[in-house]
Amino acid sequence: MHDPSQDMEQILLDPPALDRIISELAARIAQDYAERGDKTLLAIPVLKGAIFFATALLEKLTFPVEIDFVSASSYRKGAEAGALSLGALPDRNDWENVDVLIIEDIVDTGKTLSAMVEEFKRLGAASVRVVSLLDKPSRRSVTFSADYIGLEIPNAFVVGFGLDYAERYRNLPYVGILRRDIYEPSAH
Ligand code: IMP
Repeated sequence: MHDPSQDMEQILLDPPALDRIISELAARIAQDYAERGDKTLLAIPVLKGAIFFATALLEKLTFPVEIDFVSASSYRKGAEAGALSLGALPDRNDWENVDVLIIEDIVDTGKTLSAMVEEFKRLGAASVRVVSLLDKPSRRSVTFSADYIGLEIPNAFVVGFGLDYAERYRNLPYVGILRRDIYEPSAH
């Protein structure tokens, strides 16, 4: 059987490294949201890539959190992002009492998250913050910075721990840099 680790140029974050980074993020988030009165913290993982990260992060928070989902897809060609479409937003009528925490796997151009943050502000959320496991700041095409970042990485295509290439590799327990010849078969 094909061993997916053969497709990696490098393992960037192994399971202990992921756990360490996610524990640090959870501690910062817990501290920042400690004094928020009777407002609801609504955690919103962005499907599908953020589900592994969101599960690991949220199980480390010991106070009440509600969970809902949004989906975002950009019609990708190879490893390049295309036109963005956001799925339906959670339907609720108490947004003024809701602190939204969007949970994302990676910030690349920044288009997905900046569009999403604007949507939740438009709905009237009490606050909107973003936590992302990974960030590729060199790829930004719009002005955007997440409130919490696990790790800044260089401009490489990464997979695993929720991140995919053509829907593959999401279930790997680590984050790896995918070999270029896999997503650009003509590259040497
Ligand atoms: P952005 O709108 O360009 O910031 O796109 C972010 C989305 O692109 C992420 O949620 C991922 O789905 C996808 N993406 C960006 N970079 C990578 C990568 O290196 N590996 C896998 N998916 C990526």
